[in-house]
Amino acid sequence: MSVRNVLWLWWKLLVLVSLTLCVLAFLKLQNYSLSDSELSSSTSSISSRSRAVDYTGNPKVAFLFLVRRNLPLDFLWGNFFENADTGNFSIYVHSEPGFVFDESTTRSTFFFNRQLTNSIKVAWGESSMIQAEKLLLGAALDDPANQRFVLLSDSCVPLYNFSFIYNYLMASPRSFVDR
Ligand SMILES: *[C@@H]1O[C@H](CO)[C@@H](O)[C@H](O)[C@H]1NC(C)=O
Ligand SMILES: *[C@@H]1O[C@H](CO)[C@@H](O)[C@H](O)[C@H]1NC(C)=O
Ligand SMILES: *[C@@H]1O[C@H](CO)[C@@H](O)[C@H](O)[C@H]1NC(C)=O
Repeated sequence: MSVRNVLWLWWKLLVLVSLTLCVLAFLKLQNYSLSDSELSSSTSSISSRSRAVDYTGNPKVAFLFLVRRNLPLDFLWGNFFENADTGNFSIYVHSEPGFVFDESTTRSTFFFNRQLTNSIKVAWGESSMIQAEKLLLGAALDDPANQRFVLLSDSCVPLYNFSFIYNYLMASPRSFVDR
């Protein structure tokens, strides 16, 4: 074989290898973009696979409400939680400091005393919103039974019944954003 032929062979091999690598990288990218689009297509919840399992009873879905003051749509959430097993969920509310959820401020008993005691003053679009979400998550993480976390605002409404959402979230290891 001439030197020229050997070089040509090497060249072909090199092209083949880099093409293969490109295709693999592309497939990998496809995989990533697929999970990204799945990510952006569903409810806003954060699920966790690696949480401690030292709790008794059912795993819970933690509903974390970040609200300005009261919950105007509390009656809808009241109906929603009415059909749930009380051991299957927990509720945490971050409202403005000092705001109390009781019979004078909410129509749903599910929200009584669910306001965080360490809530902070939140300005829309400021980092204080993230701080408030962290406080909510921190409170929810204190209960190891909380295995799924749903971040909500005061304008969110439940579109499905409790058991549907519970089973859906418990069956999925994914996080969902913005539905
Ligand atoms: C894409 O993901 C699937 C499963 O999620 C996996 O089996 C496959 O190997 C991945 N493909 C690449 C190129 O990483
Ligand atoms: C909840 O909703 C699902 C689907 O929308 C339905 O199949 C199921 O019967 C409902 N369960 C209850 C308890 O209403
Ligand atoms: C409560 O949790 C149990 C165990 O995970 C489940 O079988 C049951 O359907 C849940 N109840 C509701 C109303 O979602």
